[in-house]
Amino acid sequence: MRALQFKAYGGPEVLEVGDAPEPHAGPGQIRIAVRAASVNPVDWKAFTGAFAGGQALVATGYLGYDGAGVVDEIGEGVTGVSAGDEVLGLGRSTQAEHAVLDSWVAKPSSVDWAVAAAAGVAGETSERGLRLLGVTAGDTLFVDGGAGGVGAVAVQMAVARDARVIASSSQANHDYLREFGATPVLYGEGVVARVRAAAGGPVDAVFDVAGKTPVEDLISLAPTSSQVVTIANFAAGQAGARVTGGGSDSQPTEALALVAELLAQNKLVITVQTFPIDRAAEAYRVSQGGHVRGKLVLIP
Ligand SMILES: NC(=O)c1ccc[n+]([C@@H]2O[C@H](COP(=O)([O-])OP(=O)(O)OC[C@H]3O[C@@H](n4cnc5c(N)ncnc54)[C@H](OP(=O)(O)O)[C@@H]3O)[C@@H](O)[C@H]2O)c1
Repeated sequence: MRALQFKAYGGPEVLEVGDAPEPHAGPGQIRIAVRAASVNPVDWKAFTGAFAGGQALVATGYLGYDGAGVVDEIGEGVTGVSAGDEVLGLGRSTQAEHAVLDSWVAKPSSVDWAVAAAAGVAGETSERGLRLLGVTAGDTLFVDGGAGGVGAVAVQMAVARDARVIASSSQANHDYLREFGATPVLYGEGVVARVRAAAGGPVDAVFDVAGKTPVEDLISLAPTSSQVVTIANFAAGQAGARVTGGGSDSQPTEALALVAELLAQNKLVITVQTFPIDRAAEAYRVSQGGHVRGKLVLIP
């Protein structure tokens, strides 16, 4: 099958679409014929060698953590899904013709493939962050980085549970954030004062999805340091904030079900820009630029 891959660490120029071994669904997994797979910053952190600790690449690398497609293999012990079903979900090496998913949900028929593909990582991460923060109706939440892949979904999920949401972005994305029902503030120096002014009272929780604002500033907004949850500042734990990278605090099946329901009800809208997989390098250059609105999606 064809898959996006890299054989050395580097910039997007190391990416190529080439032959790859076909994956197969193991116990508890399904395989899909991929219709779309989204770009996440973790992918370029992988191919640039950010996780390699200076070591050379030992085996061909593949990319993609979420996707949407048509089920074509069902692993042992899996029930409730059949070959031919349309699903979206989370897996590994999804930027390929076929991919194995570990968690999935039926794709609502009204939702297009690219949007469905974009919902996996952003939806699971958003559900996780809001759950860890215990965000409920009437709470005031600050989302730092509200216009990106995770941010835009987190903002809308919080609005859907009747929280009051203040979110930071560049000036260019303020109207975009208003469309979701959030109060926009400019990020960067002075953001704490701007959030305080917009809140006009206590902030109950801070969800840092950008990792750019000093964690001490974010903690100064929250009732306790643990009411700051970050997905992008891995040093923030030293100051008492909570860092989440998924794994044991993840509830992917429940998160995907919630995301699919919100998508089907139009309570969650994901803005997508699609690229044919042969132009993946272009998509990754945009992602590395750090100012994506919504999500970038590859079509294999
Ligand atoms: N730990 C986890 O489980 C997990 C899961 C998913 C993602 N992540 C990480 O979370 C981060 C965000 O992921 P993503 O997919 O949402 O990325 P993305 O789609 O590339 O979003 C980037 C966003 O960051 C915003 N931004 C840029 N500079 C900022 C600043 N100084 N302050 C606040 N926001 C700023 C941009 O807003 P403007 O366009 O308005 O400038 C843009 O909306 C990445 O580092 C990713 O690796 C972690």
